[in-house]
Amino acid sequence: MANDTEKIDPPRIDPPKQEPPRGDPPPRDPPEKDPPAKDPPVKEPAKADQEKQAAARASLRFVHDGQIVGLGTGSTAAYAIRFLGEQVHKGLRIVAIPTSQRSKELAESLRIPLATLDDYQQIDVTIDGADEFDPALRLIKGGGGALLREKVVASASKQLVIITDSAKQVSVLGKFPLPVEVIPFAQAVVAERIAALGAAVTLRQYAYGNTFVTDEGHHILDCDFGHIPDPPALARTLNDMPGVVEHGLFIDLASVVLVGKGTEVIELRRRHHS
Ligand code: 5RP
Repeated sequence: MANDTEKIDPPRIDPPKQEPPRGDPPPRDPPEKDPPAKDPPVKEPAKADQEKQAAARASLRFVHDGQIVGLGTGSTAAYAIRFLGEQVHKGLRIVAIPTSQRSKELAESLRIPLATLDDYQQIDVTIDGADEFDPALRLIKGGGGALLREKVVASASKQLVIITDSAKQVSVLGKFPLPVEVIPFAQAVVAERIAALGAAVTLRQYAYGNTFVTDEGHHILDCDFGHIPDPPALARTLNDMPGVVEHGLFIDLASVVLVGKGTEVIELRRRHHS
């Protein structure tokens, strides 16, 4: 699979607006391994933040009046939600379906009209972040713990627009530990099975030591595979594991990745085979 790359105008970057702390934030940035030789170096936080904002701003052109819009989760998606809130304030008419309690509360605070999948089973466009993407626009998601609802919303979306900073671009997925959502009853069994596949498996915890619980009441195993040479094969293996609710491999779901690179935003599109 190949990508079309096209430079688009750099968006205006507003001064940083921070999402207010809500409840217990999930641990971000699990320990990293040495990146593969071709992957870009890890960016300074301020630069990454600027790139996230730029990508989020650029995603606005995919949203049109009258649409049902999926709202992702994470710091990059939060920028997009804030920018959408500004547009709604100026008169844009959308109805949004958030992928997490955090994004719901943020959207509510911005007075973005909200709905659920009970109201609409098809979403026009979803804007979401990612922890990694590869040249085929396959993703690792779930660093923020919302992968289950994110995948359901992505699967119900005509278009999934992914927004990231440039550090998320990798040649081979797996530098970021793969989040796997499990039912608590099965977590030890599933952890052992995934470890047998060659991953270092960690039960996700809050910084103060309690087990992280997802919006759907499940736990998350962060599975460090180092490299995932065949993401579809691993996805099938995990799908077949009893006790696994969902995993963070998003394959053939992203339509577009908007990646902030310095002051530019690069648009990558997935090529469909005819
Ligand atoms: C949440 C996600 C996020 O999109 C992913 O973790 C990226 O987060 P950020 O934009 O904060 O880097 O998958 O479950």
